[in-house]
Amino acid sequence: MLSIRPFRPEDAPRIREITVACFDGVSIDQNIERLLGVVADLPWQARKAAQVEEDCRVHPEGVFVAVVANDVAGYVTTRVNPSTRTGWIPHLAVDPRFRGRGIARALLAHAQDYLRERGMVTAKIETLEQNATAASLFPKLGFREVARQIHYIKPLGPEMEKE
Ligand SMILES: CC(C)(COP(=O)(O)OP(=O)(O)OC[C@H]1O[C@@H](n2cnc3c(N)ncnc32)[C@H](O)[C@@H]1OP(=O)(O)O)[C@@H](O)C(=O)NCCC(=O)NCCS
Repeated sequence: MLSIRPFRPEDAPRIREITVACFDGVSIDQNIERLLGVVADLPWQARKAAQVEEDCRVHPEGVFVAVVANDVAGYVTTRVNPSTRTGWIPHLAVDPRFRGRGIARALLAHAQDYLRERGMVTAKIETLEQNATAASLFPKLGFREVARQIHYIKPLGPEMEKE
């Protein structure tokens, strides 16, 4: 049975594990690494995990985990902005072993309830064009496309030049 509960600090290693398993193929840092090689000795997995860890550090009360039979199966992170009243859902991930059974839908519903409770009037979420699964999921849940963005990268010196 699925339950959703707030993040606890002891979830951190499992969240890291899920992040590394989930963002393979759908990460800007991995795209950069494919183009340039490992940047500054920090592989894309560590970069992605650090972004999610920052969500947990900056706004732990807005991070929720999905639990199935005592195992953390996925998570969602949120941020609130009381000035603009725009909520943000920076990260969502479900362990591949637990996919296709509505866990992402449940996590997103929970995140939206939380953002509403915190006074947000809109919720913002992004995905990459290469992420067909998320691009299929978000509109089904009522999110409407408002913009597309292009990310560029440029090496700044000899350290990044390949042999
Ligand atoms: C996106 C993700 C969170 C979905 O998790 P999930 O628990 O399997 O999703 P759900 O079971 O709730 O499915 C919801 C919807 O997702 C879409 N979906 C799920 N798996 C899919 C697949 N393999 N291909 C296409 N769409 C898919 C469908 O639209 C599905 O809707 P349906 O229930 O009407 O079929 C998961 O695939 C994941 O962790 N991906 C990598 C990380 C990521 O992309 N995060 C989101 C961007 S930050």
